[in-house]
Amino acid sequence: MKPATYFLETFGCQMNVLDSQLVAARLREMGLRRVDSPREADVVLFNTCSVRQHAEDKVLSRLGGLRALKRRRPETIIGVIGCMAERVRHELFAQVPHLDLLCGPGELHHLEALLVEVSERHEQLAALASSQSRRTTAAERGQADDPLEVLDSSRHAVPGESVLQSYVRVQRGCDKFCTYCVVPFVRGPERSRPPANIVAEVRSLVAQGCREITLLGQTVNSYVYQDGERTVRFAELLEQVHAIDGLDRIRFVTSFPADWDDSIFRVLRDCPRVCPYLHLPAQSGSDRVLKAMKRGYTVAEYLRIVDTARRYVPDIALAGDFIVGFPGETEEDFQATVELVRRIEYKSIFVFKYSPRPGTSAERAREDDVPAETKSRRNNELLAVQSVISLRQKRALIGRTVEVLVEGYSKAARRLQDSDADTGVDAGDGLPDGCAHDRAASGITASPRQLAGRTPHDSIAVFDGEPAHIGAIVNVRIESVSPLTLFGRIEGVRSPARVSIR
Ligand code: 5AD
Ligand code: SF4
Repeated sequence: MKPATYFLETFGCQMNVLDSQLVAARLREMGLRRVDSPREADVVLFNTCSVRQHAEDKVLSRLGGLRALKRRRPETIIGVIGCMAERVRHELFAQVPHLDLLCGPGELHHLEALLVEVSERHEQLAALASSQSRRTTAAERGQADDPLEVLDSSRHAVPGESVLQSYVRVQRGCDKFCTYCVVPFVRGPERSRPPANIVAEVRSLVAQGCREITLLGQTVNSYVYQDGERTVRFAELLEQVHAIDGLDRIRFVTSFPADWDDSIFRVLRDCPRVCPYLHLPAQSGSDRVLKAMKRGYTVAEYLRIVDTARRYVPDIALAGDFIVGFPGETEEDFQATVELVRRIEYKSIFVFKYSPRPGTSAERAREDDVPAETKSRRNNELLAVQSVISLRQKRALIGRTVEVLVEGYSKAARRLQDSDADTGVDAGDGLPDGCAHDRAASGITASPRQLAGRTPHDSIAVFDGEPAHIGAIVNVRIESVSPLTLFGRIEGVRSPARVSIR
């Protein structure tokens, strides 16, 4: 039977969110309709993450939950796509006998063919990377005939799906091999996309109503493309994207400190539509740990980049990632991380408890010797330090006016719209607007007219408004704050919505 409907759930990073959007567009081209639950679907797909064991465990539990469904409706195709498919490979078929399909993140352009084959042959089938040569340089590899280019450049509009804020990939894979990280194994070698294809994709998104682009790469600032005689690096790519008419905002994630090039700061300073925001993971504040992680920089070098950033763009918002409980991390090492977080005054940080990943050099060579409760304590301590900093920074904005790109109704508003009473059930997706206790801490009660959006510094702002504001850039005067959210009132529209968004 030819499948007619699909369910797709995404785990992990922005790269996966983009892959899922591209996959959804292709499934739609095949004539499949998206549904909200696996029960209604002929094809159930999980786009997975392997960065931490916890992310894989969640998928295994979802798959376990589908056993009965598969027994009842054996024709349902169940597939795992993305990083976990590539990491666990065929073993996953043995582990989950009711699984039909595996497709690695570098093979998603084969997904349609794979689906057709599975539905015809009723066999477990996989598309996984066979060998991805690492012998060529990153610049040589990113050439236009790269088969992976097929997926990104096949992008087209999906009716009903807003392109207001879109991700565009500039680079695939990673060559850094930080000792804890599985990404270079599952996403393959670093390859940069041709600048002309990136610019064409952004232009087409802008023509469809996109106002904000986030350029994505595992180490986005390492972008390098050999265009005939010319070498195009990230600063130049940013300038090319900035020159596109009608685009309001440009962001880029994630930057890799060891490859930092100060000419990117020149672009951040001189190109007003490039947002004053930099996600620059430090991972640790201890040189000893950074060395064991093979990050390729010292704390002093990291601080130099941050100081230079602030010289060029004084109000730049910084975000960072940290891993706590890396093997051998002592209390002294951890306190050095706390010290770094205090010193930098990030806008926000993401903290992860070390999770040993099979096949990585840290997992092979180092015992996971920091006890779980110590990891949890360090995780909480670091977040608490940051929370004080975030609140202080946000309080300084009270009484000021910020520019907000309105994304839609806040989660709280959508809950109120869905039911007469606020049941406290999380809608589970869409816009962050600060969680319920965050709102409570601010003394603000949500209304069904509450909208949410982001400032150029990537802070979330919520305020009451009209449906016509969705998709517009508005001025919001900040009246109160919580560590995660700005609460305010619309003062005026800077630039009206260009397309109507639900
Ligand atoms: N354990 C914990 N956190 C990890 N990260 C990457 N690999 C691991 C791991 N094995 C974190 C890093 C990275 C973020 C995306 O995930 O902080 O920046
Ligand atoms: Fe992983 Fe390091 Fe590559 Fe980032 S730079 S994806 S942490 S190996």
